[in-house]
Amino acid sequence: MGEAVLAAVLAGGQPAGRTLATARRPERAAELAERHGVRVVTAPEAAAADVVVLGVKPQQLDAVAAEVAGAVREGALLVSLLAGVTTARLERAFPGAKVVRTVVNTPALVGAGVTVLAAGSGAGEAELARTEELLAATGTVLRLAEGQLDAATGVSGSGPAFVFAVADALAEGGVGAGLPRAVALQLAAATVLGAGRLMVETGEHPALLREQVTSPAGTTAAGLRELDAQGLRAALVAAVMAAAARSKELSGS
Ligand SMILES: NC(=O)c1ccc[n+]([C@@H]2O[C@H](COP(=O)([O-])OP(=O)(O)OC[C@H]3O[C@@H](n4cnc5c(N)ncnc54)[C@H](OP(=O)(O)O)[C@@H]3O)[C@@H](O)[C@H]2O)c1
Repeated sequence: MGEAVLAAVLAGGQPAGRTLATARRPERAAELAERHGVRVVTAPEAAAADVVVLGVKPQQLDAVAAEVAGAVREGALLVSLLAGVTTARLERAFPGAKVVRTVVNTPALVGAGVTVLAAGSGAGEAELARTEELLAATGTVLRLAEGQLDAATGVSGSGPAFVFAVADALAEGGVGAGLPRAVALQLAAATVLGAGRLMVETGEHPALLREQVTSPAGTTAAGLRELDAQGLRAALVAAVMAAAARSKELSGS
């Protein structure tokens, strides 16, 4: 995820010559330098910047903070990608930094992500605007209150995995109905992309879009009846709420 953000930050106009990356394995460092044309340095050196983007796993936070917190400049902007780690905890880990917490998602890898962000107690309009500018090339960027980030994690952070599960099932249905697997997967992927774009570009409610493709006594009506009977809607509502609850649980731990 850190590499996806690095690529987007560079695509958004940040000069590679003024960007540092860090990695702990030499082969990973060489890969980042070659792919993105940035200098890869030690973690403390990379932390001594105006803007620091932190992309380690939440359970690595304490170890990384012990290594680099001393190098973070007073008033520097610290942008966190860490799922379920509150701004209060980040502020304790990096005293003096202005913290913006984000929830990114993997479609950021192809510039079609959605990122939500919230400011910590020491950050304000300037830090939020700078973060939005930095992350613009990841896709859509939206500000929320920090209390809403767990719910957003359920919808957009974990959501791509739920959509992949739906796409996988669509393809499986295609195979069951007689299509070669590669064709079924291609049709499922293009259908998910097309349906998403149609929803975003028309701005229409999904219920209305669904009605528009449902002719009386037609094929879609037959399929939708099955989805209702098998509980797809209830399963997805429960999945999002479970992911949000898990995010909340992680923030408390
Ligand atoms: N994946 C998602 O869909 C997603 C979505 C939303 C938010 N997030 C958040 O994004 C963050 C990263 O997730 P990920 O899936 O990208 O994890 P990941 O692939 O494990 O990336 C973490 C990276 O941090 C590096 N690292 C760990 N300690 C380091 C240190 N001391 N110095 C330099 N680099 C260090 C790791 O190096 P090694 O390669 O050597 O282990 C690894 O490359 C997490 O906090 C996660 O909660 C992820």
